[in-house]
Amino acid sequence: MNTIEKYKKFVNTSMVARVEPVVINKAKGATVTDMNGKQYIDCFAGISVVNAGHCNEKVIEAAKAQMDKLVHCCSYVYYCQPTADLAEKLASITPGRLQKTFFGNGGAEAIEGALRLAKQFTGKTEFIALQASFHGRSYATLSVTGNVARKRKGGPYMAGCTFLPTPYCYRCFFELKYPQCHLRCARALEDIIRFNTYDSVAAFMAEPVQGEGGIIVPPDDYFVEIGRILKKHGILLLIDEVQSGFGRTGKMFAIEHYGVEPDIMTMAKGIADGFPLSAFIAREEIADAFKPGDHLSTFGGNPVSCAAAVANIAYLEEEKVVEGAARKGGWLKDKLEQMKNKYDKIGEVRGKGLMIGIELVSDRSSKAPAVEEAKKVRDFCLGEGLLIGLGGVFNNVLRIQPPLVITQDQLEQALSVLDRSFASL
Ligand SMILES: Cc1ncc(COP(=O)(O)O)c(C=O)c1O
Repeated sequence: MNTIEKYKKFVNTSMVARVEPVVINKAKGATVTDMNGKQYIDCFAGISVVNAGHCNEKVIEAAKAQMDKLVHCCSYVYYCQPTADLAEKLASITPGRLQKTFFGNGGAEAIEGALRLAKQFTGKTEFIALQASFHGRSYATLSVTGNVARKRKGGPYMAGCTFLPTPYCYRCFFELKYPQCHLRCARALEDIIRFNTYDSVAAFMAEPVQGEGGIIVPPDDYFVEIGRILKKHGILLLIDEVQSGFGRTGKMFAIEHYGVEPDIMTMAKGIADGFPLSAFIAREEIADAFKPGDHLSTFGGNPVSCAAAVANIAYLEEEKVVEGAARKGGWLKDKLEQMKNKYDKIGEVRGKGLMIGIELVSDRSSKAPAVEEAKKVRDFCLGEGLLIGLGGVFNNVLRIQPPLVITQDQLEQALSVLDRSFASL
C-alpha cells in the first residue's frame, strides 16, 4: 500500500472534505517537495505555522542539540532551562504587562487554559466571543467558537457563551459603512452585556485578525472601543494570537496594530516553527489566580519544542523577518488589489502582512459567495505548483499565508499562478 492508500484505510480523515492530493516528502523555506520530486511554492505554511520557513537551520540545530540532552521531564514537575528561557523571552516580546506563561501543546489547549484562568481570576463564568470566530476543536473552545459550521452535532455547548457580530466590514451585520458607522459593531458589546449575559462575564475574547473566519481585519480603532467598554464593566480582554502571532501580520503580535493591552493572550502555530507547542500568557496577578491542583499538562513546555521556539524567535528578530513580512505583504496586497480590477469575481482583498484573504463572489452587487470558483482556483494553483488555503465562514476566501521567509521571486511566481487561475474561471 502506498501512503494515500494507507491513509484511506487507517487514518481517520472523514472529518475533512479531502486531504490535498500531495504526499509531501520534504520542505525547505517556502518550497515543498512531493514524493515524485515535484516542487510547490507553499503559500499556506501548514496553516500559518512555519513562519521562519520549513526546516529552518537555526531551529533544527537548537532542537537537535536539545534532543541529545533531554527530550522530556515534565516542565511542571521539574525545572527545565529551555522552558524558563522561552517564558522569559515571551514576557519581553508580548505587549504590555503580560508576564507569566503556561505552556501546552496545541492552540485549543492554550485557549482551554486561558478560559479557565479567566474564570479563576474573576470568579465569573461567562464569555463573549465573535460570531465568525474560531478558537479550536475541544469542548470549551468550540463553545466559544462563533463559526457554526464547526459546531454541528457537537452540542449542547458550554453554558454562558454569547456572541457579538464580527467586525466584518465587507458583510457588515448592521449594513453600515466604516467610518460613518462609528463602530456600531463594537458599541453593540454594551447591548450584548446588558441583554445576553447575567452580569457574570469573565472575558471577551477575539482573534485580532480572524483566520479561519476568512482573514477578517477589524477597523483600526475597533479594539480601543472594545477595550473602553470592557474596562467599564470589569471584563478581561483575552486575545487569541494562535494564528496571527509571531510576525504573521507584520508585527510580532497582531494586537500591536491596535494599541490595546490584552489581559491574557494565547499563542501556538508560529511559536516553534512547526514543533508542537502552545502557550497562554497573563499579567502576574492574573496568572497567580491558579492555585495548586488547578492546571497542568504532561507534555506542556516540552524541552525540545521550547528550545526550538527560543531559536525561532531569535531568528525572527535577528533576520528582521517580521519587518520583511510587513514589506512583502504590503507589496503582495497592492498587486492583488490591482488584480481585482481585472477580475470581478474578486470581491475583496484584505489582510495585514502575510495574512491575506481574497474573498470570491459570484457578482459584486449581491456578494453571493463563489464557493465552487474558490475550489477551482485552489485546484488550479495546486496543479501549477502553488499551495494556498481555503476558508471563511462561507468557504469562499483564498488564504495566502506563506512562510514569512518566502522570496520575492517566489511571491512573483505565486502571483502569476493566481492571475492565470482567475483568468481560467
Ligand atoms: C485563532 C485560532 N485559535 C485556536 C486554534 C486551534 O489551534 P489548534 O488546531 O492548534 O488546536 C486555531 C487553529 O486554526 C486558530 O486559528
